[in-house]
Amino acid sequence: MRITDYLTADHARLHALLGQAARAPFDPAAFEEFRAGLLRHIGIEEKVLFPEVRRRLGGQFPAADRLKIEHAALTSLLVPTPDAELAAEIKALLDAHDAKEEGAHAVYARCEAVLDDTSLALLEAARKYPAVPTARHFDGPTVHRTARAALDSAERSFARRQQLRNRGG
Ligand SMILES: [Fe+2]
Ligand SMILES: [Fe+2]
Repeated sequence: MRITDYLTADHARLHALLGQAARAPFDPAAFEEFRAGLLRHIGIEEKVLFPEVRRRLGGQFPAADRLKIEHAALTSLLVPTPDAELAAEIKALLDAHDAKEEGAHAVYARCEAVLDDTSLALLEAARKYPAVPTARHFDGPTVHRTARAALDSAERSFARRQQLRNRGG
């Protein structure tokens, strides 16, 4: 098994949990398991997999930049108190996101092409990756409840950071 096989299996597990949560009546316990699992999954991609691939590509990995924006949007949708509607918004974003990672020409395949044997060592790191502590839900006027609003906001933040970086800030 390679690290991306582990992550692909995790996609299936997380989708099953989200589906279970969204089935009437809404299942908050299943949602919380999904929420913790998705945060850990994103952590593995951003802290273990993508940095190593980026390093091997000489610092340039634009596909991972787009995924990072979507990770930020997904993470922000895990903040408010969940219900079936919110779960549907998350599902729409997650379906599109996972499709960019899986498949013969998608990002995971690109990762494996540059990782070779390192993939096994990364798999161990992924397996050992700790649970991510979750905060209490927060519902305020600035909290997003739709995939569109969450993505727009994450895109704006990313563009601001890029601008600062380009200015040497
Ligand atoms: Fe991802
Ligand atoms: Fe993923």
